[in-house]
Amino acid sequence: MERLLTKLCMLIVVALALQMHGNNGCLEKERIALLAIKPFIINATVIDDERNRTVESWVDNRVFDCCDWYRVECSTTTGRVMNLLLSGLLYESTTILNFSLFQPFEQLQILDLSDNYFKGWVDSRDPDSFRSLKQLKTLNLGGNRFSGSILSYLTTRTSLTTLILYSNNLEDFNPTQGEGLGNLRNLEYLDMSTTSINVSLQELGLANLRNLKFLDLSENGMIGSLQELGICNFKNLIELDLKWNNFEGHLPPCVNNLTILRALDLSSNKLTGNIPSINLLTSIEYLSLWDNNFEGLFSFGSLANLSKP
Ligand SMILES: *[C@@H]1O[C@H](CO)[C@@H](O)[C@H](O)[C@H]1NC(C)=O
Ligand SMILES: *[C@@H]1O[C@H](CO)[C@@H](O)[C@H](O)[C@H]1NC(C)=O
Ligand SMILES: *[C@@H]1O[C@H](CO)[C@@H](O)[C@H](O)[C@H]1NC(C)=O
Ligand SMILES: *[C@@H]1O[C@H](CO)[C@@H](O)[C@H](O)[C@H]1NC(C)=O
Ligand SMILES: *[C@@H]1O[C@H](CO)[C@@H](O)[C@H](O)[C@H]1NC(C)=O
Ligand SMILES: *[C@@H]1O[C@H](CO)[C@@H](O)[C@H](O)[C@H]1NC(C)=O
Repeated sequence: MERLLTKLCMLIVVALALQMHGNNGCLEKERIALLAIKPFIINATVIDDERNRTVESWVDNRVFDCCDWYRVECSTTTGRVMNLLLSGLLYESTTILNFSLFQPFEQLQILDLSDNYFKGWVDSRDPDSFRSLKQLKTLNLGGNRFSGSILSYLTTRTSLTTLILYSNNLEDFNPTQGEGLGNLRNLEYLDMSTTSINVSLQELGLANLRNLKFLDLSENGMIGSLQELGICNFKNLIELDLKWNNFEGHLPPCVNNLTILRALDLSSNKLTGNIPSINLLTSIEYLSLWDNNFEGLFSFGSLANLSKP
């Protein structure tokens, strides 16, 4: 009897130990992938509080679950890494972003690599690492120094609902298949402000993106009309920022169909004609139209009904 009890106790201990090192904790390949990213943080020339906190949290020790690591978020159901929030960590550490590092994170939904000043990217996987990131919804690459090739790399990532690319230099983007971003049909949020993008609106292909809720193309010197942009298709638009471009032509009457639009900034463009009855835009909370070539007197009375109580 005593022997049986001892055996049972041993079994329980073994089972517990297996659980601690097996089921519990993040997936081993994801842990290893995170540890491969860690040197990029350590090698940064400036080690600030955020980097310190991250480096101290990402300990190479199986006792600590990598799902508890700073800036790493896992799914509570699958235990897989869901969000990687690496904004401002890898700055100055290296000049090239290696997308292959992220290939093991098959259930990744948010990848934030903003403000890291990467000057380029590589992907040594064949066909490419992003094919395995089938669930990626949010990709933030703003505040880097990527060239237009990054856009070509992203044009088939149809799972994306949010794409943030502000402050990159996309001047040399050249949509070879004439597709532009038109394939990203699930996009709801697109920020391409201050990117020096220099393609026609047709080539950029945003008119297909009927689910857009937030669109920021400000400070690009873009040429074209609002109709060419596809404004009449964007029925779900909540915010539209086109300031500091060279948009020309009239405000199309369809803007009055943007019934949930809350913010509209068209300032510093070359728009002409009369300002149509924007007062029908009952949902608007922010409106800026200055520095255009609109005709006639702008009546503040027509805005009286816009102000929300
Ligand atoms: C970090 O720096 C070490 C030492 O200089 C170097 O061997 C290593 O390749 C660097 N790692 C990365 C990811 O830059
Ligand atoms: C980062 O950590 C190192 C060693 O732990 C420490 O010497 C340094 O002061 C820390 N830097 C900051 C900015 O907290
Ligand atoms: C990118 O990362 C992958 C996987 O870690 C590695 O095999 C490859 O050599 C890296 N490529 C470059 C150019 O650093
Ligand atoms: C691209 O840049 C060139 C040179 O600044 C300019 O002449 C051309 O109109 C631009 N094209 C578009 C589509 O913005
Ligand atoms: C506004 O939407 C309605 C219903 O979809 C449509 O019939 C009408 O032509 C649209 N008006 C403009 C100016 O686009
Ligand atoms: C402003 O709202 C009032 C009351 O809702 C309405 O009677 C009036 O016609 C509106 N004026 C304009 C210019 O839309």
